[in-house]
Amino acid sequence: MVQPSVPGGPGEALGLAGDVASGARLFATNCQVCHGVGGKGGGLPSTADLDVWQVVPALVPLPEGLADSDAKVVAERMDLFIEHGSVPAGDTHGMVMLPFGDNQILTPQEMRT
Ligand code: HEC
Repeated sequence: MVQPSVPGGPGEALGLAGDVASGARLFATNCQVCHGVGGKGGGLPSTADLDVWQVVPALVPLPEGLADSDAKVVAERMDLFIEHGSVPAGDTHGMVMLPFGDNQILTPQEMRT
């Protein structure tokens, strides 16, 4: 399983109920710019071929390190990235995963959806 580079425990979001429609809207606003439309990777079309985008993993299909037959386990693994962010290994990256929880960019309810 993959772990974010930034340490920290699970957040409050895991205990809340999600909502698929607002989740899609929140993804488009907050995540799509880096993870691509629908999480399929590529980032912004115009920048897809720049090196800095290569470090942003596609989320669809679910990366092997996050996948599990139990949806709750997947949510727990993803939550750590969304709460605390992560800096890719190596020193050539131009992109980092933002700590949406720690920086209070999203509320626990928004992260859950
Ligand atoms: C500024 C660009 C950026 C934004 C915006 C962003 N991410 Fe990320 N995300 C990254 C990068 C870069 C990584 C790789 C981190 C690493 O390798 O340590 C990552 C990794 C992840 C991972 C772990 C995937 C894996 O296989 O390692 C998840 C899950 C994730 N992001 C979800 C999200 C969600 C959900 C949102 C929106 C709330 C979001 N990201 C917004 C850049 C971004």
